[in-house]
Amino acid sequence: MENKEANIYETDELVGQYCDFQYGDEYFGVTNFAKACAQKAIAYTKDIQQTKALDLGCATGYASFELAKVYEYVDGIDYSQAFVNVGRQLQQTGRISYTQNGEGEIKNRKEVTIDDFGFGEASRKVHFYQVDACALAPEFKGYDLIMATNLIDRLYQPHLFLKRIHEKLNAHGVLVLTSPYTWKEEYTAKEFWVGGYRDVNGNEISTLDGLKEMLGENFELIATEDVPFVIRETPRKFQYTISQMSVWKKKF
Ligand SMILES: C[S@@+](CC[C@H](N)C(=O)[O-])C[C@H]1O[C@@H](n2cnc3c(N)ncnc32)[C@H](O)[C@@H]1O
Repeated sequence: MENKEANIYETDELVGQYCDFQYGDEYFGVTNFAKACAQKAIAYTKDIQQTKALDLGCATGYASFELAKVYEYVDGIDYSQAFVNVGRQLQQTGRISYTQNGEGEIKNRKEVTIDDFGFGEASRKVHFYQVDACALAPEFKGYDLIMATNLIDRLYQPHLFLKRIHEKLNAHGVLVLTSPYTWKEEYTAKEFWVGGYRDVNGNEISTLDGLKEMLGENFELIATEDVPFVIRETPRKFQYTISQMSVWKKKF
């Protein structure tokens, strides 16, 4: 990644927001997104070996812990050191505290413990790393499941991840992606968008089309489904988004 200092995911504001998103209350009846995605990924892999999983772009780690309730070994990888530190702290000390926005300049301190989520035993099976998803080292390999939720449209060059990720999966392993496909030039230069643009003939290229193009050689698309999520910004401002989950089975 080119500009680590400007990485929004290193800021206190986003650390607080993601702690609340992953470990805080549910809003408008929408299930915790990290929990929903991990449980769906577990269900999509129930007929294959469930030994080793990778949660790529794991943020503050909730889904990595949830996967470890079933998987024997889970790597949680994120580019943000501040996010990875939250997962490690919960694992090592059994608790985290974070700042939640109130009105205006008011900030409230919230605290959660590992027992609030039943992660105590599972947490020992999780390994967190601050690593770039576009440049994964050779030792990250041999996974039965790779999950990357809401990651692709935040990568600086998503094709670097998408074109190589099959090498990291075991035969018949499963790749679970989710994304709301909110492409923005501040994260991804337009030339690298997987979809959300018109081609030279004026045809609309959707991100799912782009994913089929990039992943089709090595994967079969086995399912898509919508997964909603709510991120709390302030007591009266929430982002309500519908992410698309796509599930890809490695061909060989
Ligand atoms: C929109 S958040 C999604 C977080 C979480 N997976 C979720 O579903 O809520 C994007 C995440 O991707 C991480 N990220 C962005 N670029 C990355 C990269 N090159 N390598 C690894 N993680 C990256 C960010 O730090 C952030 O945690």
